[in-house]
Amino acid sequence: MIIDVKQSEEKDWQYTDTEIEKLADPDIKAFFLVNPSNPSSVSIAEESLQKIADLVQNKRKDLILLTDDLYGTFVNGFRSLAAIAPQNTILVYSYSKYFGATGKTASAIESAFTDSLRLKE
Ligand SMILES: Cc1ncc(COP(=O)(O)O)c(C=O)c1O
Repeated sequence: MIIDVKQSEEKDWQYTDTEIEKLADPDIKAFFLVNPSNPSSVSIAEESLQKIADLVQNKRKDLILLTDDLYGTFVNGFRSLAAIAPQNTILVYSYSKYFGATGKTASAIESAFTDSLRLKE
């Protein structure tokens, strides 16, 4: 099952609480997000990051978060979901934006999964 967790221009490219609450559904295994968004370069509000972190620390300990943080390069003081919910998060970063070399992909993936989320062989 694939569902959309939407941001909209009317909401300044932020997630509403209703959108975040969709992630409480146990049928959802992973949440893929781009933060800051492309092309708006708007990062997710601190309170929304905290709501997602609360969700994975309480109701959805099994939810995998995969955050594409490439645009973090363009936002002063950017804070990743990986800093707030490291135990559930896979962070994807590429140096192409930082070095102004889009298409010359050199990426890094980092995670600090707890044992319960580690992939089993
Ligand atoms: C948000 C985001 N993620 C990933 C990519 C892919 O990056 P790369 O140029 O390193 O392949 C881009 C490139 O435009 C991007 O904007």
